[in-house]
Amino acid sequence: MTENTRPNAPGTRRVVPADSKPVDADRVQQLLAEEWDRFTSWSQASGEHNRRASTSLPLGVTSSFQHWDPYPITIESARGAHLTDVGGNRLLDLSMGFGAGLVGHLNPRVVEEVTHALTSIGTLFVTPSSQATDMAERFKRRFDLDMLRFTNSGTESLMYAIRSARAYTGRSGIAKIEGGYHGGYDALQVSVKPALEDIGPADRPIPDAPADAVPGEVHVVAYNDLGQLERAFREHGGSIAAFVVEPVIENLAIVLPDEGYLEGVRALCDEYGVVLIFDEVKTGLTAGHGGAAQRLGIKPDLITLAKSIGGGLPLAAFGGKQEIMDVVVDGRMAHFGTYNGNALVMAAAKAVDELITPEASAGLEALNTRTLDTLDAIIGEYELPAHTVGLGAKGCVTWATGPVRNYRDYKATDFGVAELSWLWGVNRGVLTPPGLDEQWLVSLAHTEDDMSVLIEDFRSLAEALRA
Ligand SMILES: Cc1ncc(COP(=O)(O)O)c(C=O)c1O
Repeated sequence: MTENTRPNAPGTRRVVPADSKPVDADRVQQLLAEEWDRFTSWSQASGEHNRRASTSLPLGVTSSFQHWDPYPITIESARGAHLTDVGGNRLLDLSMGFGAGLVGHLNPRVVEEVTHALTSIGTLFVTPSSQATDMAERFKRRFDLDMLRFTNSGTESLMYAIRSARAYTGRSGIAKIEGGYHGGYDALQVSVKPALEDIGPADRPIPDAPADAVPGEVHVVAYNDLGQLERAFREHGGSIAAFVVEPVIENLAIVLPDEGYLEGVRALCDEYGVVLIFDEVKTGLTAGHGGAAQRLGIKPDLITLAKSIGGGLPLAAFGGKQEIMDVVVDGRMAHFGTYNGNALVMAAAKAVDELITPEASAGLEALNTRTLDTLDAIIGEYELPAHTVGLGAKGCVTWATGPVRNYRDYKATDFGVAELSWLWGVNRGVLTPPGLDEQWLVSLAHTEDDMSVLIEDFRSLAEALRA
């Protein structure tokens, strides 16, 4: 862990207990072995399905994130806050499509609007539509943007945001956070979850690019380190078009900005003429009514959105300041996409926009906070080497005794007990995202009773760890 006495930014929540006792690593391994046996005993239908799927889909899944060993749970249907798998098992869904399902599965308003589009409006015109203009105006107001364009995935939004920044600045390099994930665009494949032996010293990280990507000029800096960003800009500022960062990192569990960090980032980008891109694919509406940027009071030059804005349909967007979006207006960067802003996803987005009122966001956050408070009490009672982190409707338990402020801190957390904690939930009917680097989402469909299931599972894990 890095030395940290710095507080996290106002508007974010992290509770780190002063005292804890280590967990016995042998006990963790013994419980993990028992839990993997338990997993394969109740999920055989998913195992069989994965064997079949693997003959047509690599790894048997439609996105590599969906895979885990020995096989992931295969879902038959979803409604509200629950999933039913191919074996008929019912699971409480706290992954909610990596946070895309903010309004719940098959939310009645979404179903109503989408059904109306399917029966009375149409799905795809590839010419302008009043539906797309209406949604653009709503997003402009909500996210405080001058202009935006719709895309179909976060990856596309990031790609076009970076290309906009390049067209605007006439520079081609980018800077990104070590450990940061931003989708599949080549430039953003650098140092996503690199092995520590490949990335040099913590105070001067070496970019690590996979062989399949042609990333171009990419500089990598630690999150929460303004000194490293300043050095990168000083040494390479003349060639850096954009700095891409999740305002709150939600691909390393939840990593919060230190107080003043994002203000410092904003000032450095201004000083060196670097376009500041906030990737709000994961934060977005889950962070609050106007996203993380507004919650934290920092205005980026461009923002990328996806997941929670689409009500479970494939909708994404990028947008921001007029002078940068003008590159699309005057043709310095053409932006294309057959399915952009199609009437079907616009219908879903309209329903989400109407559902996620300031009051609804506050309600989700209140339920999440009550959940986190109760988990804090359990962590304290069992003196667990863990702490909770939350932002808006999302939360996580991080297995570390001190705050996690960057990728190197994250790599020093206890992955064994994190895996056990995730598997413990899955085996007791609570699905949080695979990968140990995600967080739960409280959606409009989740009730106090649902969140008590998560809490009681966690309590039983604490008991087992201390038994
Ligand atoms: C922060 C962030 N940016 C971008 C993406 C890519 O979005 P998509 O999967 O829609 O391409 C993701 C996906 O998880 C993400 O978490």
